[in-house]
Amino acid sequence: GTLACGVDVGGTKILGGVVDEDGTILDEVRVDSPATDVEAIEAAIAAVVKELASRHEFRSVGVGAAGYIDKARSTVMFAPNIAWRDVNLRERLEKQVGVSVVIENDANAAAWGEFAYGAGADVDDLLLVTVGTGVGGGLVLDGELYRGAFGVGAEIGHMRVVPNGILCGCGNKGCFEQYASGSALVRDARAAASAGSLLARGLLDRAGGDTARITGPLVTEAARDGDPFAVEALTTLGMWLGEGIASLTAVLDPAVVAIGGGVADADELLLGPTRRAFAAQLTGRGHRPVLEIRKASLGNRAGLIGAADLARR
Ligand code: BGC
Ligand code: NA
Ligand code: ZN
Repeated sequence: GTLACGVDVGGTKILGGVVDEDGTILDEVRVDSPATDVEAIEAAIAAVVKELASRHEFRSVGVGAAGYIDKARSTVMFAPNIAWRDVNLRERLEKQVGVSVVIENDANAAAWGEFAYGAGADVDDLLLVTVGTGVGGGLVLDGELYRGAFGVGAEIGHMRVVPNGILCGCGNKGCFEQYASGSALVRDARAAASAGSLLARGLLDRAGGDTARITGPLVTEAARDGDPFAVEALTTLGMWLGEGIASLTAVLDPAVVAIGGGVADADELLLGPTRRAFAAQLTGRGHRPVLEIRKASLGNRAGLIGAADLARR
């Protein structure tokens, strides 16, 4: 079958791969993400694609990026957590790699991957919620990726969930991603540790006494070992997620909500509280069919697999 290249531009790493029509990754290249430096990110994406192109033949590249992409799949109009502002990333990358490129929202690409090959393969209506640096949303409705009128639909991370709440990277206050992201989890855990909270003592010890070394994976590891503070932190995150998903269900009525992103690695420690909060908050509960909340199944490869498939189409 036809090969395509997919690249997922994450907050911590850039992951590229050559993917066949079955969604199988034949080859993979991973580099650390230059975080927020847009020129370095662009150069890193191009380097990943060129390395893969030196070993395989493909005619299309899909890039998943954490921002508002126009409907032409070319321009990153805005990104809350990266300094992309009206950058025609497609054109800039095509010049460097000499292959046709499409730019997709990272969560949309991951949702497509999960729908085509993963946790949503058995349904027609899927919402993927990615819980990482930000909160991403990707929506497949009736078997089609939903983009919205201008390409920027399903930006669930920027729904206001708290009036005048915590300031978000997007400039607004009280966005969902300030409560339900991995960054929110880490921010709150670090704050408790810095404030000298005895509750956060075990977590701080694990971090070698350095609050900066408290990360999402560290919280998950502590929670798995039964650290009550870490368990509570994931429970709180799950509560925000579950309540948000209940509201989204009122609008979208998906068959499955898949939870992806790094924090989904906490498994039941996150999904349990998410399901409980969802069930407690869903309007019409007891009188309507209830969707399933599942863990996304392609892990951190969903984005690159989905981006490759969307580019091939
Ligand atoms: C961005 C989305 C992105 C999500 C996950 C949000 O802050 O607005 O475009 O999909 O983070 O990376
Ligand atoms: Na999206
Ligand atoms: Zn926001």
